[in-house]
Amino acid sequence: MEKNWVFWLSSMYQNYSIGAFIENVMDFLIILSDVKKTHTVLDCGTGLGTLAFKLADKIDDGKVYALDVDDECVKYCNDLVAKKGLIYKIEVLKRSIDETKLQNALVDRVFSRSAIMYLKNKQKVFDEFYRILKDRGMVLAYEPIVGEKYFRIHKLLNPKKTPNFEFYKEIEEKIRNNEDDFIYNYDEKTIKNNLIKSEFKCVKVIKTYTYDYFDLTQERINRRIFYSNTPTIPDFKEKCLKYMNEQEFNIYYNEVIKQLKGKRTYAKTTGLFIIGIKNPKISDYLKLYLNIFILFFSYVIWRNLLSLLERIFKLEEIVF
Ligand SMILES: C[S@@+](CC[C@H](N)C(=O)[O-])C[C@H]1O[C@@H](n2cnc3c(N)ncnc32)[C@H](O)[C@@H]1O
Repeated sequence: MEKNWVFWLSSMYQNYSIGAFIENVMDFLIILSDVKKTHTVLDCGTGLGTLAFKLADKIDDGKVYALDVDDECVKYCNDLVAKKGLIYKIEVLKRSIDETKLQNALVDRVFSRSAIMYLKNKQKVFDEFYRILKDRGMVLAYEPIVGEKYFRIHKLLNPKKTPNFEFYKEIEEKIRNNEDDFIYNYDEKTIKNNLIKSEFKCVKVIKTYTYDYFDLTQERINRRIFYSNTPTIPDFKEKCLKYMNEQEFNIYYNEVIKQLKGKRTYAKTTGLFIIGIKNPKISDYLKLYLNIFILFFSYVIWRNLLSLLERIFKLEEIVF
């Protein structure tokens, strides 16, 4: 199957609930960052540049670096920057997150959404962020935790109707529990330790949960199996082929499609909001706590209050 990452990422955004969730996360990071018009900022693993373009809206005299290692994403972003006439403000860099090649103490804010997880050595990533940040500069990232037990295909299969169910379960667990697989082997504690070891202060790693319904179309199942969310690491099929041959995989895949296609499932996504400041002053701590409070109140409390009212009064639609 030929892979096209720009297509893959675009299709994520086209799904209403996923697209809205991702954009919300980006907006939260921007609110927490207290970014100023004059700031120099970096979006690491920018993909289609969604966060970088949002940041460009906030910045006047500063600069936005949009960095990605993938050729297709870099080309897509460069074309879009030119189309939007933002060449003077956004510079697209084809580099790896852990080797940005930017000079020391150049940037005020480093952002990232769902990209740090794809790097094997996360300590190196945070050391690099610390090096390129100015004093009082902040790192703000959101990374999903895909290693938790909720993401399991075999849990959606019917054990009684699935030949070789135990074999499939075992393989999936082996893949998910592989300590060397760096997309599964981190959590809030390891990330917090990384930040502290890099000498960040005011470190916050906030675990969040999101619940959503998903319609399992064939396209969505294929995305889970044949794509790894980033071009730099093997996908689920490639990982399965370590434990079964191509023919066995095809039987497994056909069974998955037969049983899951057209079903609706409820999924829980765990994610980490990651924040650290380099050599902060007291006022930086206060500002961050204030922004966390504002975000918490305006989004979490307000949203939950609305859905509570919705349930009490059985209102079908509340637009907010
Ligand atoms: C899941 S996408 C997220 C894209 C974007 N941040 C967003 O939220 O839409 C992961 C991105 O990280 C990029 N990436 C993966 N490993 C990278 C690395 N070592 N250096 C730079 N970018 C990387 C991929 O090319 C891909 O565009």
